[in-house]
Amino acid sequence: MAFDPSDVREPFFSVLCGYVSNVPLRLIPDLASISFEEAHNFFLNRLLLNPHVQAYPPAERYQILFWKWAIETLESLLDEQDAEIDDRLYNHLVNLIRCSSSSGTNPPSASYVTYLWKSSETQRQRASICAGVANATLLESRTLVERGTTGLTTWTASISLAEFLFKHSELVQGKRVLELGCGAGFLGIVVATLQQRCGIARAKEHGRPSLWLTDVDSNVLSRCQDNIQLPCNASSCHPDVHCAKLNWMDANNPAARPSLESTICTVNADVIIGADIVFDPAIIPALVDTMSLIMHSGQSKSGKHIIAYIALTVRNEETLSRFVHTSEHSLELLDISTELVGQGILAVPRSEDQEIRLYRIQRRR
Ligand SMILES: C[S@@+](CC[C@H](N)C(=O)[O-])C[C@H]1O[C@@H](n2cnc3c(N)ncnc32)[C@H](O)[C@@H]1O
Repeated sequence: MAFDPSDVREPFFSVLCGYVSNVPLRLIPDLASISFEEAHNFFLNRLLLNPHVQAYPPAERYQILFWKWAIETLESLLDEQDAEIDDRLYNHLVNLIRCSSSSGTNPPSASYVTYLWKSSETQRQRASICAGVANATLLESRTLVERGTTGLTTWTASISLAEFLFKHSELVQGKRVLELGCGAGFLGIVVATLQQRCGIARAKEHGRPSLWLTDVDSNVLSRCQDNIQLPCNASSCHPDVHCAKLNWMDANNPAARPSLESTICTVNADVIIGADIVFDPAIIPALVDTMSLIMHSGQSKSGKHIIAYIALTVRNEETLSRFVHTSEHSLELLDISTELVGQGILAVPRSEDQEIRLYRIQRRR
């Protein structure tokens, strides 16, 4: 049997992952074959009273659906014995319903989402949601667009890129990493965790890692900064993480380009990452020019051969081919999407009909 570092066994681990990442109930495993006692202990002690979950709870509306289901499940598992459901479970649901009826029909407010993955190397000093499990916890918008930006929620391609980086952690460990269009900070937390895992103290051997998370939107950057600094995330202990404004449009704006060049020089990246940043045909030329500029400046200043890993969701074939054709003038694109086959480190459901592509990009020689 494969080594399982987690102290929460299946199917409970999947329920835990689903609950903290607000996964639809239809995707949460059925507990019909579990004893009442085990299920009750899990819902009460591992979920309701879990200090991490109490500090970073899922969305209230989601919790109502989940706890209704959990109590129904427990009721269906109750046999004739004199066991009963702890009042704290009922009270929690009643309080949630009371709060939701007083908030009326307001749009859902931002709430915490926690992404979990099993890891035998979680740092002992930090309270973990359960043993042998690492987390990325973020305050996220409950809608895809909020305050005019798409950057306040985590997009699917970043889950795929994170899993690729779990498998190839050497690509970011000990490296100076620059993320373009970082959004709420999910990939940043993952990369910071991988860099921490390799040990900042072992920097002599691997190089001193740094992480620059960049975006155009100031609300997004401020949310990203807050998420990176949440004490439950390994990123909060990383000594060299920065959130900074970097607008791709500046690459084609003679007045703004010197400031962009100065940022690129300060970051001095070894690796570029980006997820779901190829979605608007109008900004593709600026994005491609920004990547070319970074790669060119690295090559000419310090002879660096900078590689970008860009993951994208194929929503529109025309947008994708525009990205490929625009890039081909100055960059070499290698489609490495086969690297994404069979992923499943992060227990987050993926839609079968959303195709994700991953490109390894370098400067054209
Ligand atoms: C669809 S979101 C993806 C966010 C994040 N990478 C993820 O996968 O969850 C696109 C991101 O690109 C950023 N963006 C859009 N135009 C940009 C520009 N001109 N310069 C820099 N970032 C930009 C947005 O602010 C947003 O955060």
